[in-house]
Amino acid sequence: MPIETELKRLKEAAGAALAASKNGRDLDLFFAEYLARGGKISSFLRGLKDVSIEERRTAGKEANLLRQETERKYAEKKRALRGEVAAKALDLTIPGKRRERGNLHPLTRVRMDIEDVFLGMGFLVEDTPEVEDAKFNFDFVNMPAGHPARDMMDTFWLENGKLLRTHTSAGQARVLSGKKPPLRVLIPGRVFRREATDASHETTFYQYEGIMIDENISLADFKGVIAEVMPRIMKREINYRVRPGYFPFVEPGIEVDIECFLCRSGCSVCKGEKWIEVMGAGMVHPEVLKNAGIDPRKYRGFAFGGSIDRIAMLRFGIRDIRLLWSGDLHFLKQF
Ligand code: DAH
Repeated sequence: MPIETELKRLKEAAGAALAASKNGRDLDLFFAEYLARGGKISSFLRGLKDVSIEERRTAGKEANLLRQETERKYAEKKRALRGEVAAKALDLTIPGKRRERGNLHPLTRVRMDIEDVFLGMGFLVEDTPEVEDAKFNFDFVNMPAGHPARDMMDTFWLENGKLLRTHTSAGQARVLSGKKPPLRVLIPGRVFRREATDASHETTFYQYEGIMIDENISLADFKGVIAEVMPRIMKREINYRVRPGYFPFVEPGIEVDIECFLCRSGCSVCKGEKWIEVMGAGMVHPEVLKNAGIDPRKYRGFAFGGSIDRIAMLRFGIRDIRLLWSGDLHFLKQF
């Protein structure tokens, strides 16, 4: 076979073999067959020693060009294949998928903290109905029909004559009746007021009601409880004070303030007062004890009630109560 024909065939075969190589393994075999020492191209070159000088010169030159060209194409194809593999492989630079993590509503957190602290002091935690009888919401706690104090709590009345409880004090009747002192009960729950809303008023909010009845209970015991409980539910050191207040179901009645911890000279939270009211309380009125079938000559006790929303607002620095009821996730995710 003339040497040019042989070279032409080699060139065609190498081109076809390279084109047929589809993966790294094919390319390795191709290299071994054509480009390696002892491969077809170098064998061809070595074979040139047996031909005329003339032929050796031209065919040698061409065969060397063929080798260079084939090496170039081989390297190019190898790079391209690597790129394809890399593109299909796991890309560790892609950002991960973030998993949404839930959290407790701030009101739930504060309610649970309050329950924990009182449970630790031997209180039972009880649930009483939100749809309540007027006799429990009002009459039982010494606010009979026509009592002016009923006006303090604008009420959602239902068509069946029941109402949405205006305070958790309504639960006193249910937890006291039929039970024998000593008693320590906490009633956390939702209450409802038919009022216009603003930054500090909502038609729905949470309260906690507490009551402790025994033979020799006094306001000193109540102050002991407050001193223990308030720092633990506020999660900070606090100063508190009590001052007289009127509630029909206690006598004497008091209001508990904590010293504003946001300012020293008056701010928008304490409205310049430096003290923030956090609960009402007092010695349970003898009429209320009688209503529950408890002898007021033998037993006495204190009751207290406050807003859980208020505690949450103070604790987390929330300036508008409506945010707590908005269901706004941008807001809720901050807690
Ligand atoms: N029930 C009152 C209210 O909703 C709060 C309260 C005041 C509860 C004095 C008490 C108490 O038990 O003794 O505003």
